[in-house]
Amino acid sequence: MASYSNHVKPLQFLKEQLRLYAFNGELPFHDILNRFQRELSKRERLAALLEGELNFHGENSRYASHDLHSFAAKFPPQLPRAFIRGLTDIDNVVLDPMMGSGTTIVEAFLEGRQGIGLDIDPLALRLGRVKTTAADICSLRHAAQKVLAKADKLLAEGKKVEQKLAQYFDEQTKDFIDYWFLPRTQRELMALLLAIRDIPDRASRRTLELTFSSIIVTKSGGVSRARDLAHSRPHLEKRNLPKMRWNNSPLDFARPSRVLRD
Ligand SMILES: C[S@@+](CC[C@H](N)C(=O)[O-])C[C@H]1O[C@@H](n2cnc3c(N)ncnc32)[C@H](O)[C@@H]1O
Repeated sequence: MASYSNHVKPLQFLKEQLRLYAFNGELPFHDILNRFQRELSKRERLAALLEGELNFHGENSRYASHDLHSFAAKFPPQLPRAFIRGLTDIDNVVLDPMMGSGTTIVEAFLEGRQGIGLDIDPLALRLGRVKTTAADICSLRHAAQKVLAKADKLLAEGKKVEQKLAQYFDEQTKDFIDYWFLPRTQRELMALLLAIRDIPDRASRRTLELTFSSIIVTKSGGVSRARDLAHSRPHLEKRNLPKMRWNNSPLDFARPSRVLRD
């Protein structure tokens, strides 16, 4: 009986192995991994990857820190992962000069490469930093609990939150906030923000700031009256009340369950 390799040309066989590794994570035998490097040029590897299945619809893209925050035109993480696996080796440097939410940089770390990301958008820089910093889940949980307790206290006292809401924003920003957020939601968000800003541990504070932002900039189920605020032209949904997940506390809608899941 003829074997598979008798029918498939050696170069074609190598390219198929490369695609299996890059797209499906099927680790080839060690000598084949070496042969990718010796026998296929970077150009040939790139061409082989571009001939692969680049549709990742329906695949899980929420693993690791990828789902921390929405961002416009995010890559499915499987896309940079395939090219990182196929074109670079362990410990190589992967540079994304327009990293956005840092998908490529997170994948570079997960694949044992060094990732460097640049962007002109300050939100992108914050996201990249937080998503690639190992989180101490205990400190984070402790900080989040402190934030919720402090915010509940501030809301119960009322005065400081009202004062901050009146002073914190210029007139144009205040008009914007009044348009998108119900008065009660504004108070709850301000209480959370004040409490987060009080957290001394920088790593926890940065993560909680982004968690705070993630409940506002969201595709659905956020705390504004917008429909699809993650996109550039959201619509005001007059019947859309900010989503409440539980009814125990005025702040329950904002509990950062996603970040604290361990
Ligand atoms: C489509 S987003 C990238 C999204 C990314 N692939 C992800 O998965 O999140 C493009 C990014 O390029 C950044 N950008 C545009 N022009 C830039 C420039 N001249 N220098 C640095 N970054 C730039 C934008 O700020 C934006 O974050």
